[in-house]
Formats: sequence, C-alpha cells, structure tokens
Amino acid sequence: MSTELIIDKDSFRKKVERLTNIPTLPNLLSKFTEMIKNPKTSMDAIGKELSKDQVLTSKLLKLVNSAFYGFPGRISTVSHALVLLGYDAVKGLIITSNIFENLSSDAFPLWRHSIASSLAARSIANELSMQDVEEFAVAGLLHDIGKVILHIEAPEEYKHVIEKARTSGRTIWETEQEMLGFDHANIGQWICEKWTLPEKLIIPIGSHHAVKDASGFHMRVMVTSLSDMMIRGMGGGAEEDFPLEPIDPICEEKIPLTQDQIDKIAENIAPEIGALQHLVPEDMK
Ligand SMILES: [Fe+2]
Ligand SMILES: [Fe+2]
Repeated sequence: MSTELIIDKDSFRKKVERLTNIPTLPNLLSKFTEMIKNPKTSMDAIGKELSKDQVLTSKLLKLVNSAFYGFPGRISTVSHALVLLGYDAVKGLIITSNIFENLSSDAFPLWRHSIASSLAARSIANELSMQDVEEFAVAGLLHDIGKVILHIEAPEEYKHVIEKARTSGRTIWETEQEMLGFDHANIGQWICEKWTLPEKLIIPIGSHHAVKDASGFHMRVMVTSLSDMMIRGMGGGAEEDFPLEPIDPICEEKIPLTQDQIDKIAENIAPEIGALQHLVPEDMK
C-alpha cells in the first residue's frame, strides 16, 4: 500500500529537537542535569538554584500539590520535592508543567488522560512494591507527550490523523504510523532523549505501544502500558483514544498481579478519575 506521508520525518524530528515554543526549558534542563552530575552539589543546593526561577517553581509546586497529582498541599519547596520524589521524577515534572501550558483547550482531554494515567501508574507500582514509584508516575504523566508535541507543532496535520483514526476505526498510533511514518511514542522518545531524561523514563515512554520491542526496563514499560489501557478502559482516554485496545497480553502474562488486584486498583482510583471529569481547560494553565 503506498500512502503519501503528510509530514517529513527527518525535518519533523529536527523541529521537535529545537522545539521553539518552549524557549527556557532546554537551558533549564541542561543546567539541572549538570548540577545533578556533580556529586558535590547537595539536593538542597540544587533546590535553591532551581527556586531562583520563580515561574518554574510556582508551576512545579502547583502541579505536585494539585489534588490530582498525589501530594495535595504537601510539598512546599523545590528542595522538598527533590527529597520526596527524586531527581528524575522532578525533572520529568518540570517538563510536564512547562509543556502542557502550551496546549490549546482542544488538547484538554489529553492532559486529563495524562494525569489519570499517572495516578494509575503510581497505584500499580505501589501494588507491585516497586522502588521509585514516583518515576513510574512521571512515565505515566509523560507517556503521550508525543501527542502534545503533534498538537503544538503540527496541529492541522494532526487533526487529519485524528479524523482518519476516528473514521477508520484503527488506533491513533497505527494511523500515525500510516500517515506520518512514525508515531507519538517515537516523538516522546526523541524529545526525552533531547532533554536528557534517563533511559528508565525514555524507554517506557517510547515503547508504550510496542511493549514487547522495548530494549530494557520491561516492568516500567509494562506498567506504563497497563496504566494507559486501564485508564482508557475506565473512560479516561483522550478524544482520539478509540477504539479501546485490550491490555497487551505480555503485560497480563508478565506483571505479577492477579485480575482481582488490577480490578481493586481500578476501584481505588475510580473516585479520583471521576473527579478529574470536573476539571476545566483553564486548570491546565
Ligand atoms: Fe500513547
Ligand atoms: Fe495514552
């Protein structure tokens, strides 16, 4: 089947890596990465340095303290966030809090889906007694960041892709592959590599629709995929997230949870997922 691709992959990748709409973020992330690399720099010092950026601080604290992220009203400073959540989770949250505000209200369901997936990922990781639960939560939050980029950088083309998925009944990522030659998980991987997130976050984001092809961090990849599917099954998908896809058999086989445990997790987070329905697009800002 020969289909003409509507975006050139190489030039889009370059555009993503330059990402002009988020001017301060790349600088900030490289500074943060440098500070983390130096073992002599204390967490407190890093927190103080980041706090000099007032806009960043207020966005980050707003996100982690929101009723929906998991630490409502509990984190008062950037240093506190670092201690409680860890460097890599905070780095992911800096990205999240900066990037979603660039979205138009069209992408509000996607934002809500991301918050819900993050809640599910945290609960699943807790049930599995994973360490670094917050990193699982951040992978959930960022798993569809590639869609965010498509909404920002190629809004018209992406509308066509969403429309095609809707009318053809095929999944959005298959339709992206067909019309663009790459999908939102690929974009998520490119941008997270560019922003020097660790592989334990990059791989789950880049492989959440191709679980069995993941090159490592298999449990994180599977939890990211399962949380996405669980939330979609609970009615918390983004607008283009139809048709529903079954949970990847590899996740059912390899994640050591019974169906009862999975149902229990879904039941426990249901009130929060329900409450997300009351949010409005202004809450993204
Ligand atoms: Fe996705
Ligand atoms: Fe998703």
